Amino acid sequence: MTAERAGTTPVLTAREVQVSFGGRPVLAGVDVRIDAGEFVGLIGANGAGKTTLLRVLLGVLRPSTGSVVRADGRSGAAGIGYLPQKVAIDPDAPLRARDVVRLGLDGGRLGIPLRDRGERARVDEALDAVGASRFADQRIGELSGGQQQRVLLAHALVARPALLLLDEPLANLDPASASDIVALLDDLRHRLGVAIVMTAHDINLLLPVMDRVVYLADGRAATGHPDEVVRTDVLTRLYGRPIRVIRVEDRVLVSADDRGRPHDEVHHRSDVSA
Ligand SMILES: Nc1ncnc2c1ncn2[C@@H]1O[C@H](COP(=O)(O)OP(=O)(O)OP(=O)(O)O)[C@@H](O)[C@H]1O
Ligand SMILES: [Mg+2]
Repeated sequence: MTAERAGTTPVLTAREVQVSFGGRPVLAGVDVRIDAGEFVGLIGANGAGKTTLLRVLLGVLRPSTGSVVRADGRSGAAGIGYLPQKVAIDPDAPLRARDVVRLGLDGGRLGIPLRDRGERARVDEALDAVGASRFADQRIGELSGGQQQRVLLAHALVARPALLLLDEPLANLDPASASDIVALLDDLRHRLGVAIVMTAHDINLLLPVMDRVVYLADGRAATGHPDEVVRTDVLTRLYGRPIRVIRVEDRVLVSADDRGRPHDEVHHRSDVSA
């Protein structure tokens, strides 16, 4: 279902990715192609395999079968900016926001002051790109959730990757902050040309900016422009059971088509993904 578009360059191509845990298939043949500067939304219910797929793309989880090919020829996490789903920040950590960002440059030199003017400029540039310069010298633990999210984005960006993999970057943000982060990401990919793959439960926040959606259910993916994928017929085929896509003004509501039961959003229903 992936549309090949003329004149675009893939930064990463994953083919027929299969992953099983303890004999249970989580991804059962997923294809993903990410083009330069593209904004890809990875959507699915809890447990659908979104984090698993991101870890495969990142090169830290080897699929049982299938391949991941990077245009830059690198392997592992090198050259990819990653924001994990669970980032535990110790509220008492003696680290300023800018120290956290610098760790994205060198990985392990915790607590060593900036020695290099070039490094400092890179950190300032990343902080500025995400609108975090204002609190760059505050301790990370005393920043709000939304401010920390910006700092973690700067951490993922500072090494100037061609690809950003963001796992639930909108979790725990109020709707206004979530919209701000989406707008920021859209701006970054246009300004820096970085391709972005991000997971989210609520597809609505991503609809205005997404070039492509990868919709995961039952280990399989439907991929394409949101208008091609977020449709009753396509999602019913993907889930293997009746699904309704309802458009209300500029929002979509995806629900199990169980007549007589309330139409909860599919992303919030564990039974749909089982
Ligand atoms: N390391 C692991 N060992 C065993 N099972 C795992 C492992 N990682 C993930 N799983 C299982 O794989 C399935 C998919 O998990 P994954 O974290 O990829 O889902 P997700 O779509 O990211 O969900 P969420 O929306 O809750 O973050 C789940 O059933 C999970 O229990
Ligand atoms: Mg996850």
